[in-house]
Amino acid sequence: MATTILVTGATGTIGSQVVSALKGRNDVTVRAAVRSAAKAESLKGANVTPVDFEYTKPELIQKAVAGVEKLFLVTPFTPDQVDLGARLVDFAKAAGVKHIVKLSAMGADFEPGIQLGRWHRTLERYIAGSGLTYTFLRPNNFMENFINFYPPGKDGNIYLPWGQGACSFIAGSDIAAVAVAALTSSAHENKAYNLTGPEAFTIGQAAATIGEVSGKKANYVDVPEAAAQKAMLDMGMPAGLVDAMMELHAIDKAGYAGEVTDAVKKITGRAPMTFASFARQHAAAWK
Ligand SMILES: NC(=O)c1ccc[n+]([C@@H]2O[C@H](COP(=O)([O-])OP(=O)(O)OC[C@H]3O[C@@H](n4cnc5c(N)ncnc54)[C@H](OP(=O)(O)O)[C@@H]3O)[C@@H](O)[C@H]2O)c1
Repeated sequence: MATTILVTGATGTIGSQVVSALKGRNDVTVRAAVRSAAKAESLKGANVTPVDFEYTKPELIQKAVAGVEKLFLVTPFTPDQVDLGARLVDFAKAAGVKHIVKLSAMGADFEPGIQLGRWHRTLERYIAGSGLTYTFLRPNNFMENFINFYPPGKDGNIYLPWGQGACSFIAGSDIAAVAVAALTSSAHENKAYNLTGPEAFTIGQAAATIGEVSGKKANYVDVPEAAAQKAMLDMGMPAGLVDAMMELHAIDKAGYAGEVTDAVKKITGRAPMTFASFARQHAAAWK
């Protein structure tokens, strides 16, 4: 009988790719958690059914987890993400969910680490302590960030306070492929993986690649920390989340995000995507 999987964050960068990768398989039935009907349509498939899900609404969570065996857990980027995640774990356990595959972040196991890592670590520990089977995916920064968060602006510039820090960015499709492996086999039970792309590169190098594939000028401008902080505050981001992002920028600038692991290759059997391939595949996003 097909295994029922609930994918949270199903409309997001990683969850949407997990749903796509599970679509059409006859060994799984997928519930794609969504909070707006408008976004549900494109997720539908013969084995994929959208289900109403909102982290702040317990009654919807209870309905969504009923009868589910495996859960792909993505927490929202909010200061109460640990509490929201823990409540979902409680409901999942009560409903008989067996295995949680949690989207975490590289560095979640570093003590004391940064706030973003601590949020993930606290929830990882909560899941491990729940007695449920788990798999923790700890990816580095996503290549999609160059589309979603820091694409070249109208002036062609990418403004980041990263200095010459190099990072082994990873493509979301590689994270999704690892998630699918964890959700569809027992080989990754009670394991945690640091997931990276195949090489570390600077924002300047990324800008050059984006410029080549898009045919438009793209430059990196290394901005002072205070300017980056102000820009996020001006966008209306809560101060606590801005502080968390500034800590992340600092470790990226210091070059701590440059480690390359072989986890994607070992788990999926294929090498992770290079940024050049990713950029060619997504060139339209920068045109
Ligand atoms: N970006 C990076 O470089 C990076 C690196 C490592 C780890 N991570 C981790 O990855 C996670 C984010 O994954 P992502 O980028 O795939 O997410 P995302 O694209 O930001 O999407 C967030 C998803 O969560 C849903 N969501 C938000 N608030 C919700 C709520 N209150 N109730 C129900 N659903 C809600 C969104 O639904 P809507 O579409 O309706 O908004 C969307 O599907 C975070 O935990 C982050 O720490 C990110």
